[in-house]
Amino acid sequence: MGTVNEDAGSDTSLCLALTKIFMTKTKAYGTSKDMYFIAFEGLDGSGKSSLLQLLESLLKSRAIDYVITREPGGTPLGDKIRDLILEKSQNPPTARTELLLYEASRAQHVDQLIRPALQSKKWVLTDRFTASSLAFQGTARGIGWEKVEALNHFATDGLSADLNVLLDLSVQESEKRRKNREATSGVLADRIESEAQDFHQRVRQGFLQAAQVDAQKWLILDASKPSNELFIELQKKLIQLGWIS
Ligand code: TMP
Repeated sequence: MGTVNEDAGSDTSLCLALTKIFMTKTKAYGTSKDMYFIAFEGLDGSGKSSLLQLLESLLKSRAIDYVITREPGGTPLGDKIRDLILEKSQNPPTARTELLLYEASRAQHVDQLIRPALQSKKWVLTDRFTASSLAFQGTARGIGWEKVEALNHFATDGLSADLNVLLDLSVQESEKRRKNREATSGVLADRIESEAQDFHQRVRQGFLQAAQVDAQKWLILDASKPSNELFIELQKKLIQLGWIS
């Protein structure tokens, strides 16, 4: 906004300043393009996959091109990094190493999959993106947001999601769902899921903080609700943004 005041001395510069604001807004709200980048965030077990699947069905039914992906992972190298990060090990990564591994996976993901998909006019739906690093490494591991934001920016080369959907859930409910999953599918908790309750409590706070700091780019959903209700709220948001009708 400082630019507007400084440049507002002549009609031409005022016009330029207003055009700049308009272009920023249309980019942020997506009215000037037909592909969007949406990140789904939240605690483990918050229902991101179910909501992603529902949105996928909607895009399919409208013949909208899309890719669904996830972090860490999304590329062959990213999947290898994912295994390194999530495996339970006698020699686990330190907090900074862990962050760098997530960021390495992200850089590859952005360069090889996300940016090319957006350039070919596809919607990109990702299960986790930069806000996960803010919440898990920045807040819960205590690295701090400034460092994580700098690395996020480097890894993404400045790309950010058009919309972040936070599935907010209590730590108790998240743990209950994870235990159910373990009992029914036999899939055991990974290294991060096995962290103590207070770690996950800090993660939840980190997400809520991220959503408050950049509120225009977030939709916060109460993930204790059934997924069909969450999907209705998501659709309303997309209609309000003008991304679907
Ligand atoms: P998930 O794909 O099952 O959600 O597993 C990924 C785990 O990695 C999950 O516990 C969240 C965590 N994570 C981070 O700690 N930082 C990150 O930047 C990302 C993308 C994920």
